[in-house]
Amino acid sequence: MTDGAGTRAQRRFARWYPDLMQRAEDAGQAEIRARHLAAARGRVLDLGTGNGFSVPHYPAAVTELVMVEPNPGLRRRLQRRTADIRARAWEIVDGDAYDLPFADASFDTVSASLVFCSLDRPEAALAELARVVRPGGSFLFHEHVRGTGLLRVLHEVATPLQSLIADGCHLNRDFLGLLESSAFRVTEVERLRMPGPPARVTPMVVGVAVR
Ligand SMILES: C[S@@+](CC[C@H](N)C(=O)[O-])C[C@H]1O[C@@H](n2cnc3c(N)ncnc32)[C@H](O)[C@@H]1O
Repeated sequence: MTDGAGTRAQRRFARWYPDLMQRAEDAGQAEIRARHLAAARGRVLDLGTGNGFSVPHYPAAVTELVMVEPNPGLRRRLQRRTADIRARAWEIVDGDAYDLPFADASFDTVSASLVFCSLDRPEAALAELARVVRPGGSFLFHEHVRGTGLLRVLHEVATPLQSLIADGCHLNRDFLGLLESSAFRVTEVERLRMPGPPARVTPMVVGVAVR
């Protein structure tokens, strides 16, 4: 949990991430989010909401949107986007993926976009998401992952620097492998490249897993 201004890494990340990612959003990332998040239903948890790029894409079938974001600078920017929320009820929470402040089986849908790259203990976060979603509920995932061949080597080499400038982001994360070893069952997965330069070299997996 972070109070006040957040850590130095969080402050640095909040300064550049929204503007840089806006380019990918404009180049097609927003459409990917809209298509993917159309499946969200009922009470929804969005983990690591950031400044809220996903927020306008949740459909009206979402009755309550709970957004967890530990970075104070990004949380402030998220507050400015709440007019875009279509859910009847919503809440912004300063929480932590490893210790979610919610009851077991209390969500119909859990969702994360570009979050698992940033976590030191992704297995623990997956276990927390599996705890708070109801049996039969969905996990909508949208993550960038390590490449193959030469790109994988590049991702391994660049991860320490990326981690430093992007608040712990790992370019070399095998998210799908972690998900397949979790309590979720993957039912849909699309392999894409993040749209827009310079992100085009970044492979992504976008899909659905069921608890
Ligand atoms: C790359 S940003 C993605 C933000 C947003 N989901 C998006 O799609 O633009 C990663 C987000 O994960 C959040 N995050 C990092 N560590 C976290 C943790 N332990 N618990 C919850 N969120 C975390 C960061 O603060 C940041 O907002």
